[in-house]
Amino acid sequence: MALQEATRLFSISQAPVDAASAEDLRQVLRFHEHRYYVKNDPLISDAEYDLLFKKLQQFEADHPALVTPDSPTQRVGNSIGKDFTTVQHLVPMLSLENSYNAEDLLDWDRKAHELTGLEQVDYCVEPKFDGASISLIYEDDLLTRGATRGDGVDGEEITGNIKQIRSVPLSAAFSAYGIRQIEVRGEVLLNKSNFKRYNDQLAAQNLPPLANPRNAASGSLRIKDTREVAKRNLEAFLYHVSYVLPADNAPEQHALNSHSGMLDMLWQLGFKSPVAEKRVFNNIGAVIDYCQAYEARRDDLPYEIDGMVIKVNNLRLQDKMGMTTHHPRWAIAYKFKARQGTSKLRRIEFQVGRTGSITPVAKIDPVPIGGVTVSSVSLFNEDVVREKDLRLGDTVLVERAGDVIPYIVKPLTDLRDGSETPIVFPKNCPVCGDALFKPEDEAVWRCVNINCEAQVVERIIHFGSKDAMDIRGLGEANIRKFYELGLLKDIPGIYTLDFEKIGRLEGFGRKSVENLQTAIQNSRQQPLNRLIFALGIRYVGETTAKTLANAVQHLTDFTRHTEETLLELEDVGIKVARSIHEFFSHKDNLALLQKLEALGLQLKNEKKERAATGNLNGQTFLFTGTLKQLKRSEAEGLAEKNGGAVLGSVSAKLNYLVVGEDAGSKLEKAKKINTIKIISEEEFLSLLSS
Ligand code: IVH
Repeated sequence: MALQEATRLFSISQAPVDAASAEDLRQVLRFHEHRYYVKNDPLISDAEYDLLFKKLQQFEADHPALVTPDSPTQRVGNSIGKDFTTVQHLVPMLSLENSYNAEDLLDWDRKAHELTGLEQVDYCVEPKFDGASISLIYEDDLLTRGATRGDGVDGEEITGNIKQIRSVPLSAAFSAYGIRQIEVRGEVLLNKSNFKRYNDQLAAQNLPPLANPRNAASGSLRIKDTREVAKRNLEAFLYHVSYVLPADNAPEQHALNSHSGMLDMLWQLGFKSPVAEKRVFNNIGAVIDYCQAYEARRDDLPYEIDGMVIKVNNLRLQDKMGMTTHHPRWAIAYKFKARQGTSKLRRIEFQVGRTGSITPVAKIDPVPIGGVTVSSVSLFNEDVVREKDLRLGDTVLVERAGDVIPYIVKPLTDLRDGSETPIVFPKNCPVCGDALFKPEDEAVWRCVNINCEAQVVERIIHFGSKDAMDIRGLGEANIRKFYELGLLKDIPGIYTLDFEKIGRLEGFGRKSVENLQTAIQNSRQQPLNRLIFALGIRYVGETTAKTLANAVQHLTDFTRHTEETLLELEDVGIKVARSIHEFFSHKDNLALLQKLEALGLQLKNEKKERAATGNLNGQTFLFTGTLKQLKRSEAEGLAEKNGGAVLGSVSAKLNYLVVGEDAGSKLEKAKKINTIKIISEEEFLSLLSS
């Protein structure tokens, strides 16, 4: 549907009154789904979409006979706990032959020329998506079945879960291409930012994170509650047509003679197919260049890819080349440098975190993985070690997926020789010796001695870190050094450091001492929300810290709050409320706050004191990426000084997103809400002076 048409229908289809206007509204909803999920370029906000969606839902509830199987409302599933049935693919799902370097591709190219007997063979090159493969069947334009790959011949029927992937159309006009039935293949993915968000949620509940987006995608497809599947925000790239049943008397279509044409057709019909990513080349040299260039920017993509796929573009030639028992001869995967490696597990270090959590960390022989040497791998908690049955001396398979931290996939048990020994968990804190404790509903053991040296040092490190008080020059290494030398023993000690002594330490010149002094001095002026975050109260992240700062005039006002009054604050649940209440009930913590105030830190909520006036009155801001002229904290300060408010995350409440270099997921998210104005640092500065 064209934009104009959608806009026209949008204006007339506010509330459907009959079958025809309900279908109009469905078209409008499909149009916006496509803009959002396939083209990443929405035209209306989530709230506006939801409103339209509810109108349709209401109409269909009132007129159940008028519900159509491909209505956007029919994605909303309710199949809970049903086992998946096994179904046979129309055509077996073969895997691809792998290649790892230019020579491999040159060999394959030679064979392609031999097999086809042609001087010139055109290749279509596209990313090799690293997710879970699926196959979809459409009959008479309707999605009738979705299945996992399974063993390649039979897969699991997961139609209900596939319908939760909003970029997969429930109906598509294949009939316009003379197609009655079609089997389409693709890959389901969880993009990097949704993966991270999901893992952050797990971490907040002290659960071990999912290993990588690929496992997350295949796990998500097997969840038995479709509503849970919907929450994962899965995406699907469709990249292959494995079977076509033409309609009776369908004329031959030229678009369907090439792989590239098939991808175009899928895109035209509303699927997310790699049309922007694919390239057709007539020589292998150009193919190799494209693959290598893509590998170089692998980390910049919003999703994981593990290589490129090269396909003979002409479908008749594909048929002519045929397949072996395992793979088609007309395609090959070009695999990027491995992000897996094997190494020996030598010992386990039990690290004590800021909140006393004990994390087992595997120390392995250094192994290069995807350009980084890995020697230390977190195992998260005791359950992870037990589930994987890890033993000291094991050879382990280690993986590092993009910017995901490395993890141990599994021990290679076939390589055991009997000398491996079990991993024994300590009963006492490895640093202070106090007995460890494991709360019933948690997976993590804790040292509950808040004076435990390890915790004290971790708290100081967090306090000075970039997102907290941002004390440059007081990084982890210096804090540990000062602590060992007795120059720094707690957080207030930062503000009474003996700079003369520091100046005499090796590696500290006059300039670096001066810089450190200035950074510490500046941190006294950090706004209250940063101080709250810096205190490291359990479950209080940057966003909650902002909410808390806005709720009081002075930090110690929290001593008068109860769990109930805390629960009234935005996004504060019972766990968070309990933790905040506990913090402000502890006399040591109150003494700490008093000391910090006496040292000149900002415990007042300046914004509450000052009637906000200025150019930005009442407007909300969020900054993302690296700014060129201002530090992030300066920019936030300027916004607030001029009457604006700084939010912690992208939501419909946000008026301006100020974007610096290398902006990431916040920008992507903001683009989807069309009421947010996305501006540059320069535009922000001119707003201030306008
Ligand atoms: S084509 C008959 N294209 O890689 C050929 N596969 O080992 C069908 N994959 O099982 C596969 N991206 O799950 C093809 N652009 C792409 C792909 C792709 C990822 C996966 C697919 C397949 C595996 C091959």
